[in-house]
Amino acid sequence: MTPYTLIVAATKESGIGIKGGLPWRIPKDMVFFKHVTTLIPKTSPQHLQNVVIMGRVTWESIPPKFRPLTDRFNIVISRNPLYDLQDAPNTVLADSFEKALSLVDPKLHGRVFVVGGAHMYQLAIKERHCSHILLTRINSDIECDTFFPNIDEKDFRLANHQELEEYVEQVVPSGKQSHKDIDYEFLLYIRK
Ligand SMILES: NC(=O)c1ccc[n+]([C@@H]2O[C@H](COP(=O)([O-])OP(=O)(O)OC[C@H]3O[C@@H](n4cnc5c(N)ncnc54)[C@H](OP(=O)(O)O)[C@@H]3O)[C@@H](O)[C@H]2O)c1
Repeated sequence: MTPYTLIVAATKESGIGIKGGLPWRIPKDMVFFKHVTTLIPKTSPQHLQNVVIMGRVTWESIPPKFRPLTDRFNIVISRNPLYDLQDAPNTVLADSFEKALSLVDPKLHGRVFVVGGAHMYQLAIKERHCSHILLTRINSDIECDTFFPNIDEKDFRLANHQELEEYVEQVVPSGKQSHKDIDYEFLLYIRK
């Protein structure tokens, strides 16, 4: 199985969503998400494209003009084999998480990211192939109705800032960041 990375923004209470959408809008986190999920590491052939795997609800939460996520191969997971992707280019449907991973082709694809939502994270975090978790920790109290699973410290360790920057191949602001009244921080967990 291909190793993959979970990428998520979550509160201290692990909240990630509300009413089918994101509970916040943090422009620098969106830029970070785009950079990281698009970047082909320097050591890989630059013609590759990364993969983003998401649940059907998360797909629908992306405004139509912003989906599919550009320059990434999009895989949408639904139990409904007839789910209509409306001819979105560079996008395929899979009826299970395993099926989604089986669609990854090392000749075409670079890094693989699971980009949500809660159902997908639940499935993905359990597997040994979940090698990294990129977590934007939201340190403000924000109401959520959808939650990220527990990151078990038996399985994952918090990386230091240099490891985070090496992984994403860019300078990342360190420590507490602020956007309006929201405090947040960029973190990386690596499977032990
Ligand atoms: N903060 C963040 O970083 C972040 C990131 C992404 C999403 N979110 C938020 O998370 C929320 C959405 O999360 P969610 O858990 O409700 O939805 P989701 O994981 O995006 O999608 C759930 C859907 O995936 C399909 N599915 C789930 N388990 C499956 C399985 N075992 N096999 C096949 N298909 C399966 C089902 O689709 P069908 O019903 O079509 O069968 C299910 O309804 C939204 O609020 C979104 O904004 C937050």
